[in-house]
Amino acid sequence: MTQLILTVNGKQVSADVEPRTHLADFLREERGLTGTNIGCEQGVCGACTLMIDGAPMRSCIVYASSCNGAEVRSIEDFDNDPVMIELRAAFTAEHALQCGYCTPGILATARDIVLRIPDADEARIRHELSGNLCRCTGYVGLVKAISRVLEQRRKRLSA
Ligand code: FES
Ligand code: FES
Repeated sequence: MTQLILTVNGKQVSADVEPRTHLADFLREERGLTGTNIGCEQGVCGACTLMIDGAPMRSCIVYASSCNGAEVRSIEDFDNDPVMIELRAAFTAEHALQCGYCTPGILATARDIVLRIPDADEARIRHELSGNLCRCTGYVGLVKAISRVLEQRRKRLSA
C-alpha cells in the first residue's frame, strides 16, 4: 500500500492505496464519486476525464498514488461553476447529450476549451474534443453547444 494525501473537490483526503489503483477507481470506489465514468480503461474514450491541477486528464491511466499533493476536481465539484452552468444550459439547448455516459468527461474538456481557447472555431473545437468519444449523440450538437458558450462570452466581453 502507498500512502496518499491529495485534495479532492476542495477537501484534503488521505488514504492508503494499492500501487496499481487508478484514480478513477479510487474516486468511485473509495470516495463514492461516481460521476466519473469509466469506459475503455486504456486512455482512449475520455469518459473518465477530470481535472488534475487545473488540466483535463484521463483518470483511468493515472495511478492514484501518483496524485500525492495534487488537486483533483471531479464533475461533482462543478455544480456552481459559472462556465459549467453555461455549458449545461447550452448542452440542453443544442441537444448535446443522450445517454449521458460521455458527458462528465466531455464537460471537463469543454470547460477547458472555453477557458483556454476563447477564440476557438468549429475546427479547433473538434480537434480539442478528439480525445472524448461520444457513441450516441454525435458531435454536431456538442460543437454547437461549446460554440454557443464561446459566442455568449465573446458578446459579453465586447459589450
Ligand atoms: Fe479512461 Fe476511457 S475510461 S479514457
Ligand atoms: Fe451517450 Fe455521449 S451521450 S455516449
